[in-house]
Amino acid sequence: MMSEKVLQSKKSDLPIILLGYMGCGKSTIGHLLAKDLALPYIDLDDYLRKIHGRSVTNLFIEYGEIGFRKLEKTALEDLLVSAQASVLSLGGGTPCYGDNMQYVIQSTPHTFYLSPSISTLCHRLYSEKDHRPMISHLTSKDKLQEFIAKHIFERKLYYQQANHHLYIQDETPQELVDKIVKELG
Ligand code: S3P
Repeated sequence: MMSEKVLQSKKSDLPIILLGYMGCGKSTIGHLLAKDLALPYIDLDDYLRKIHGRSVTNLFIEYGEIGFRKLEKTALEDLLVSAQASVLSLGGGTPCYGDNMQYVIQSTPHTFYLSPSISTLCHRLYSEKDHRPMISHLTSKDKLQEFIAKHIFERKLYYQQANHHLYIQDETPQELVDKIVKELG
């Protein structure tokens, strides 16, 4: 971990945004990064949960995916309009709807795409798939892996517009945080 002085000098006035597929580590890394930089941490899914008083799964059930995307877009705009110094993790689908990604990259240069391998994502997501409305219908690991591969292929176009790309192998969360801090320049 870097010294307090170095970390303070990396502190940005603009949000640092983490994006990527479900299970890529946005929350784990976001929490740690915010702690190291002494910035507030915001998770867009948690923010939605708080303002609507319902879980993401229940928002999907009540409003359908399109309805959820509209709520997600409004929440993103609310958070970015003031563009305060913070670490913000987006939902896996946030960058891929409407003009969200354009809005994100216009708001801050500090956008990080976190990209582990498909097999790592599959391994992480299989045990939690029942709480995740986008993948809860997939009944085997093979089907999940195939779904993730196709889904990422479609979404990459948006994810790759981030200014920084982290292709994750076997680094620890702290090592990834240190990489992000370095890239903040
Ligand atoms: C989604 C990802 C989830 C959540 C919702 C939809 C997606 O967020 O927003 O279930 O479309 O990839 P996380 O990536 O934070 O799990």
